[in-house]
Amino acid sequence: MNTDTPQARAPWINANLPADERAALLDAALTEDERYGLLHSQWAIGFLPGAPLPEGAIPAAGYVPPIPRLGIPGLYETDASLGVTNPRNARPGDTATALPSGLAMAATWDAGLAYSAGAMIGDEAAKKGFNVLLGGGMNLTRDPRCGRNFEYLGEDPLLAGVLSGEAIRGTQSQGIIATAKHFVLNDQETGRHVVNAIIDEAALRESDLLAFQIAIERGAPGAIMSAYNKINGHYACENDALLNGVLKGDWAYPGFVMADWGATTSVHAAASGLDQQSGEQLDHKVWFEAPLRESVAAGETPSERISDMARRILRSMFAAGLFDRPLPKGEPIDYAAHGRIAHQAAAEGIVLLKNDRNILPLTGGIKSIAVIGGYSDVGVLCGGGSSQVTTGKGHAAFIHAGGEGAMMAMASEAYHPSPPLAAIKRAATGARVTFVNGRYPSEAALIAAGVDLAIVFANQWTTEGADAPDLSLPNGQDALIAAVAAANPNTIVVLQTGGPVLMPWLADVAAVLEAWYPGSQGGEAIADILFGAACPAGRLPVTFPAAISQLPRPDLPGLGQPWQSPGGRRVDLSKAPGFDVPHTEGSDVGYRWYARTGQAPLFPFGYGLSYTDFGYSNFAVTGGETLTVTFDVTNTGALEGIDTPQVYLTSRNGAPLLRLLGWSRLKLKPGERASAKIIADPRLLADFDTAARRWQVPAGDYEIALARSAEDIVAKASAHIQAASINP
Ligand code: BGC
Repeated sequence: MNTDTPQARAPWINANLPADERAALLDAALTEDERYGLLHSQWAIGFLPGAPLPEGAIPAAGYVPPIPRLGIPGLYETDASLGVTNPRNARPGDTATALPSGLAMAATWDAGLAYSAGAMIGDEAAKKGFNVLLGGGMNLTRDPRCGRNFEYLGEDPLLAGVLSGEAIRGTQSQGIIATAKHFVLNDQETGRHVVNAIIDEAALRESDLLAFQIAIERGAPGAIMSAYNKINGHYACENDALLNGVLKGDWAYPGFVMADWGATTSVHAAASGLDQQSGEQLDHKVWFEAPLRESVAAGETPSERISDMARRILRSMFAAGLFDRPLPKGEPIDYAAHGRIAHQAAAEGIVLLKNDRNILPLTGGIKSIAVIGGYSDVGVLCGGGSSQVTTGKGHAAFIHAGGEGAMMAMASEAYHPSPPLAAIKRAATGARVTFVNGRYPSEAALIAAGVDLAIVFANQWTTEGADAPDLSLPNGQDALIAAVAAANPNTIVVLQTGGPVLMPWLADVAAVLEAWYPGSQGGEAIADILFGAACPAGRLPVTFPAAISQLPRPDLPGLGQPWQSPGGRRVDLSKAPGFDVPHTEGSDVGYRWYARTGQAPLFPFGYGLSYTDFGYSNFAVTGGETLTVTFDVTNTGALEGIDTPQVYLTSRNGAPLLRLLGWSRLKLKPGERASAKIIADPRLLADFDTAARRWQVPAGDYEIALARSAEDIVAKASAHIQAASINP
C-alpha cells in the first residue's frame, strides 16, 4: 500500500468521512501553537488605535489566520443578519444588498423568504471572500425599547426560531458558516456588558432557549455567539449551565461557541464551554493564549478541552465545506436579483396598522400630495451598529448620532439611497407632489392644508449600544404628525422604526403603515403598498404597547447610569459594577404578558390589515400525541393577497394561557380557496420540568383558537392530548 499519498499524509481531506472524524484527524496533526491559534480571532476593522489590520485579513469584524502547513483556511468573519457590512468603509467602496430589518422579515412570517434572504447574504459574503457570517441574530423582544430589536425576529420563540433557522440554513447553503446570536437574553443594550438577567430556568427553556433550540434544529449553524450580558450571575461566555449544560449537553450541539466582541471576561470561559475568543484586541486580555496555557498547566482547565475547542471549530469548517470547495471570492454578484429579494421582503413585511375609509391604496383622482419629513427625499432609514449595511453607491445621508462610549461615538443615523419621494412621484401619475422636510410642524400643516393628501414619514432610529429611552417618536415628530393631521383629514403616516412606538395621534390620522427599516429597496416597497402595486401582507411579530406602564419593567433598568454606553475595550469587566434585571415575566414574553395581565395593547402580536378579505371554514382539530389543526381559507375580497392565519393554544385543562402553535401563509386570488394544516411542536404544549430535565406534556383537554392575531379569534375548538415526556 502506498503510504505517501496526499490522503495518507492528510487523511482529513477525504470528504466522504464525517465532519467530526475529519476534525479529530486534523486536530491530531496540529502543534500546540497551531491549536491555540485557532482559539482566538482578531478584530479586523483596521482603523482604530491599537488594532491595526492583521496581515492577511479582509477588513471586517474578525479574522483567524490560516495554517498553510496543513491546508487549514483562515476564518474571515463578517457581520451580519441584514446583509454584508462594511464598517466605516473599511473596504473602500464595497457595498452590499441591505435586507429590511429583522422585524420586517419576521413580519412576513415567511420561512421560504427567510431562507432566500439568508442565501442571498451568504452568496454576497462568500463572493466578497468571507467564510463566516455573524448572523442570524435572534434575541426575543422582551423590551420594545431595546436598541437592537430591529436586528432580531420578534417576541415569539416559534416565529423567531423558524425564521432564524431558515435564514441560517440559507446562508450555509452557500458553503459558509452562519452564527446564531446572541446566546442568550441579550434583551437590552443599556449596560449590556454588565447587566445580569435573572430568570427561572423553566421560563428560559420555554422562551429564549426554545427559540435557539428550534433555530439550531432547523439551521444547524456552525457557530453560536455567546452574549455580553450575565444570566443568573454568570457571564454568557462563561455560563457553564447554559453552554456545557444546555447547548452542548442537552442539545448535543456539535459546533463551536464564539464570544461576542469584547465579551470574553476570563480564562474560565474555556472550561465553561466557550470555544473561541473573538476580537481579542477588545478584551482585557488575550485569554485564550498565554492565560489559557497557564490555566491548563495549573490543572484548572482540563487539557482535553483545548483539543475539544479546536475540533469543534474545525468540525464546523468541515461541515460547511470550507476544506472542499474554494470560496467563489471575486465572482460577480447578481445585485439585481438580490435587490428583488430585498424588495419583496420589504413590501411583504410592511404592516398596515390602520386604513380608515379604505383611503389606501391610493388610486386615481388625487390631484395633490404633500410628502412630509423623515428624510424621505433622500432615502430610507437603517438601524445603527455592527449590522448597518452600506448599499448602492453608499449612504444617502449619514448623520452623526453623538453620545458617550465606544458605540455611540461611532454610531450614525444612516439612510439607504432608495428615496420614497421619488417612488411616490413615479407612482402618483397625474398628481402634483410637494416635499416638506417637516422640521417645523407649522409649515408642514400649512402645506398639508392645501393638498388632497398628506403622507408623513416619521422615523425612530435605534442602534446597537443604546436603548430607546421611551417609545415616543424623537425630534418632535409626534407633534409634527398631530399638526398635519389637524390640517388634513387625509393624513397617512409611514413609520420607519426599530420596533414598537406609541401613537398619541392615532385617532386623528386616516392610515398608518409600519415600514420598519425597509432596506435597499425600501422606498419602492413603501410606494408599492401606498399605491396598491402590492397588497399589504405583514403581520406584527411584536406587540405594540398602548403605554410604557404596560411593560414588565416600565423603568428601563440601568437607564441614565454611566454604563449606558459601555466601552468594553480592554476593560476589566470583573471589576465593573453591574445590576440585576429580574425577568418576572418569565416565559410570558410579549403577547403572553398582555394575556397574563389582561392588558389591551395598542396593536396585538399577529395583527395586520389587508386590501382584501379572507374567510375561514372547515376548522377542525384532532388530538392524540399532538394537536393537528386544519382549516380552509378563502379570499373573499376583490384583490389578490396574502393571508397569515394563526393558531394559538388558549387553555389547557381549563387554565388559560396563550401560545402561538403555528401559522399558515397563503397567497390567494379573489375567490380562491386553499387548505391549511398545522401540526403543533409538542414542546409548545408542554411545561419544562427543571427537576426531571424534560418537557412534560400534561394529559387533558387543550383548547385552541384560529385567529387573525393574538387578540382577534375567529373560532375555537378543543381536543384531548395524551401525556408525554420529551427530551430536553
Ligand atoms: C455585536 C455582534 C457583532 C460583533 C462583531 C458586536 O458588537 O454585538 O453582534 O457580530 O460586534 O462586529
